[in-house]
Amino acid sequence: MSISAQLVLLLCACCVQAQDFMSPNVNVLSELGKIKDLEERVKTTENVMQSQKNSVTELTTKLDEVKSENEALKTTVQTLQEKVESLRNENEVRKVAFSASLLASGEGHTGPYNSVPSPLIYKKVFTNAGNGYDSNTGIFTAPVKGVYYFRFYAHCHGGIKMAVSLFKNGERQCSVFSWKPITNGNASNGVILTLEKGDQMFTKLWENTWVYDDPASYTSFGGFLLFPL
Ligand SMILES: *[C@@H]1O[C@H](CO)[C@@H](O)[C@H](O)[C@H]1NC(C)=O
Repeated sequence: MSISAQLVLLLCACCVQAQDFMSPNVNVLSELGKIKDLEERVKTTENVMQSQKNSVTELTTKLDEVKSENEALKTTVQTLQEKVESLRNENEVRKVAFSASLLASGEGHTGPYNSVPSPLIYKKVFTNAGNGYDSNTGIFTAPVKGVYYFRFYAHCHGGIKMAVSLFKNGERQCSVFSWKPITNGNASNGVILTLEKGDQMFTKLWENTWVYDDPASYTSFGGFLLFPL
């Protein structure tokens, strides 16, 4: 037998032997493979779970952030609501303006008086936004602290002096005066004042003077809030 023939024989024998040896173990290998496969799958599942855990942690953190953002927004909205409310009130408070003339109807002079009994009471009210003016007393009471503008106008017929002053809490601020006009007299004056809430404004005749009014509303008094302080 040649060496190569011997080698072939030997290989064949080996093959047969290997087959015999391996054949009962084919299942073990496949089981091993399955186990490996399982291991892979467990690992994958573990990874998936880990990443899901991470996602949950991230989401929880995110949720906490959103929650505190929401809280902050709530506070902001509340602050804004309060601001809107106070602006609305301020805006309401800004609406202060009145205008009135002396006689509600008819015509005639008011005065003269030796002792002037009261402020001039302007009865025909054109406007009284904010209800600061009282047509029973002729007195305007400032509903808010602020800077106000007031003006008054006086008219009279001839013969007697016409003189009217504007008062703040009983203190004279400004006046008009007409010395016995031949036919009739007209005069007006006005002032800008800083008033505290509750300050009172009114006009008053001087002693022994008069003013005239009729439906043409010659003699009048008015004022308004320029801006609150
Ligand atoms: C005062 O005003 C009245 C009404 O406008 C007018 O008829 C009169 O002439 C005026 N008097 C004077 C002195 O200007």
